[in-house]
Amino acid sequence: MREKLGLLEHRSAEAELGGGRPRLEAQHAKGKLTARERLDLLLDEGSFVELDRFVVHRSHDFGLEEQVVYGDGVVTGHGRIDGRLVYVFSQDFTVFGGSLSEAFAEKICKVMDLAIRNGAPVIGLNDSGGARIQEGVVSLGGYAEIFLRNTLASGVIPQISAILGPCAGGAVYSPAITDFTFMVRGTSYMFVTGPSVVKTVTHEDVTMEELGGADTHNGTSGVAHFACDSEPACLQAVRDLFQYIPSNNVDSPPRGRATDPRDRRDESLLDVVPDNPNKPYDMHDVIGRIVDDGIFFEVQREFAANIVCGFAHLGGFSVGIVANQPAVLAGVLDINSSTKAARFVRFCDAFNVPIVTLVDVPGFLPGVAQEHNGIIRHGAKLLYAYCEATVPKLTVITRKAYGGAYDVMSSKHIRGDFNVAWPTAEIAVMGPKGAVEILFRKEIAESEDPQAMTDAKINEYREKFAHPYVAAGRGYLDDIIDPRDTRPRLIEALETLRTKRDRNPPKKHGNIPL
Ligand code: HXC
Repeated sequence: MREKLGLLEHRSAEAELGGGRPRLEAQHAKGKLTARERLDLLLDEGSFVELDRFVVHRSHDFGLEEQVVYGDGVVTGHGRIDGRLVYVFSQDFTVFGGSLSEAFAEKICKVMDLAIRNGAPVIGLNDSGGARIQEGVVSLGGYAEIFLRNTLASGVIPQISAILGPCAGGAVYSPAITDFTFMVRGTSYMFVTGPSVVKTVTHEDVTMEELGGADTHNGTSGVAHFACDSEPACLQAVRDLFQYIPSNNVDSPPRGRATDPRDRRDESLLDVVPDNPNKPYDMHDVIGRIVDDGIFFEVQREFAANIVCGFAHLGGFSVGIVANQPAVLAGVLDINSSTKAARFVRFCDAFNVPIVTLVDVPGFLPGVAQEHNGIIRHGAKLLYAYCEATVPKLTVITRKAYGGAYDVMSSKHIRGDFNVAWPTAEIAVMGPKGAVEILFRKEIAESEDPQAMTDAKINEYREKFAHPYVAAGRGYLDDIIDPRDTRPRLIEALETLRTKRDRNPPKKHGNIPL
């Protein structure tokens, strides 16, 4: 037995060395951690249990039969985050550049199948040269097996991707299907075709970082959700996310541990909205004053900043917050903000996270580019996402709620559960200036003093519509509240909605306007 144990130890140690010391050192020299070091940082100390440590590839081409490495370039298994079970795979760039073989794909599929069966999240740490070139179509088949599982697991268990090195070609489509993608500035890249192919095809000169780095995908394309400055910061951010999300679609999200009093009123909320309705303010100020301990875990902070999405706790309840941002483009809804918020709303709905919507929206963004690029189709995504969501939906209108955007932003009409407004709310088909220009164009043109007449009509319109009382009079708002009470009122509503039951008609699936 002792002799056999010795062999086991020897082989285990060999497996842990991956592609060998020189390649592990090369990985460090690039400013990157190794596959196992990453798992150590991601998971609770000592909680990682490895599976398939001795799996090897079955390839006999291009001399691969001479190069067999235990584990075959990916470390898989399960571990804990804050004591909760998660399944993980960590691609090891030191073994054939982390490239995906048949055996490598089978290992990933095994942990994905276990995760789905056991109702636990999957976290993938990606650092790979893509399909293992020597294995050809077998490797492509392996990717497809993973894509299929990503899709079947979507909405059943949370799937998280951290990109910690290259992720190119069709390989990007696995992270793209997962719920949240984390990237690290300077070392992680995602692209369908790299800079040299781009140069050949379109004659554009572009660096890896510009084409598919963390800032590009967080700020420009919206492909990623978090940009971090280092791998440890990235892995900590993944851990932080787990404070807000459940392990699967039948569990409730974890409760927050803050001691922030539930009945805390906030005096400063009286002064957030400026007297001049055309002046901007930062919606983060509202969010920070309402949520537990002012802690807001923002998602896609750099993308479409005219809408703010993220997680927080309110009286211990995990919530997803969607908020128009008057400080950026006046909080208007455009293509990018609509798709950003729609995806976030759908995540919350799939995983039982109540949605708190803070509304200050002047409408949809006008413009040829917006129309030609499909604002109708993309705006419809957000409308669809809110309409189909059956989780508790709470809405606070702080100022403007104009036009179609009023309907879209979790209004009472699309099954808002708790809809309130601050006294500063303005709810109408459009803003006073636009309305007066349409309704009284002739009269203004013919009047002796067009400016005086415009001002008078704007005042008249403002008095009639630029307040929340017509909506409240119809019951479209459940109440008009003192802004200082926003936190206690939301927590009280969340408490009543704990037992909410609502279902959509049975169907195979809806047809969201993609
Ligand atoms: C087999 C690979 C590999 C691959 C890298 N290696 N990529 N082996 N298949 N796809 C090996 C290298 O031969 C090398 O082996 C080691 O990994 C490290 O690679 P380097 O090139 O030395 O590293 P670096 O300079 O950091 O460059 C990293 C890289 C580059 C940018 C990822 O390796 C690269 O361009 N690789 C090919 C990427 C690619 O075109 N993949 C196919 C994409 S198409 P040694 O023994 O020298 O250490 C695809 C389709 C997916 O993936 C389809 C899904 C549907």
